[in-house]
Amino acid sequence: MTGARHVTFLLAHLSDPHIGPLPRIPFRRLLNKRLTGALNWHKARANIHNMDVLAALFADVAAHAPHHVALTGDLVNVGYEPEFPQALAMTRLLGDAADVSIVPGNHDAYIRESLPAMRRVFSPFMLGDSSREVTFPYLRRRGAVALIGVNSGVPTLPFFATGRVGRAQRAKLGELLDETRRQGLFRVVMIHHPPLAAGAKFGRGLTDAKSLTRLLAEHGAELVLHGHNHRHSLAKLPAKGGDIPILGVASASAVPGTPHHRAEYHLIEIMPETRRLHIQRRGLLADGNGIGALSEMALTQGVS
Ligand SMILES: [Fe+2]
Repeated sequence: MTGARHVTFLLAHLSDPHIGPLPRIPFRRLLNKRLTGALNWHKARANIHNMDVLAALFADVAAHAPHHVALTGDLVNVGYEPEFPQALAMTRLLGDAADVSIVPGNHDAYIRESLPAMRRVFSPFMLGDSSREVTFPYLRRRGAVALIGVNSGVPTLPFFATGRVGRAQRAKLGELLDETRRQGLFRVVMIHHPPLAAGAKFGRGLTDAKSLTRLLAEHGAELVLHGHNHRHSLAKLPAKGGDIPILGVASASAVPGTPHHRAEYHLIEIMPETRRLHIQRRGLLADGNGIGALSEMALTQGVS
């Protein structure tokens, strides 16, 4: 073991690929929330989420050979069973399950049957170290980095996109954050919904955001990664041991919209020893010339 902690850890963060096209769904299986979701997809999402763009973005990720990839949910559109194998074929372009960590989003948990269907296909990507079955939050240690995956996907009523972490997961999350802090690891929390209560639109936020925010402030973390809003964002949560950067990434497949909504991913260099982060946004270039660097920023965890 020669100084693994001094090595820069390269982490790619992607979210919300909404992998399509939507398979044909028998009408009898549309008589629930999926009806609105399916209509929505055919009306809008099919034009917003472009699978050629997604494939190009995934290829760019692979070309940078990150040590690990975090994919924070909404892999599919209406949580219909046949969507998941289709999403898996695409996700494999990012790497093996041991090198790609996934957490579910609200579209992966669309109705009651959705999450079990996702587990059947994506379990290897959501498995904690030495775990035989998926339980959230899960912990994966990679070098000096602890990757902690939280599930905020719960079935909701039509037109709602809320999420919930729940008491049991929050309790376990607190324990994992303490344990990995004691081990001196750089703690990265992955969750689909933004963890902060502030700024969430009605019907789209975490219903227990306040409790989660309190917990993170109390136990600390070095970085939180999320998706859900389909736009790039960087916020800071004051916490014991130093401010936590809360980093949101746009959808990996979105074509139209403002530069902050267009397809992108984050290439994050983590220097665990100094708690420094260098973040490069890479994505769809405005001139239509494929995938490239959009912007860069450097920050030191814990420094305002
Ligand atoms: Fe999404």
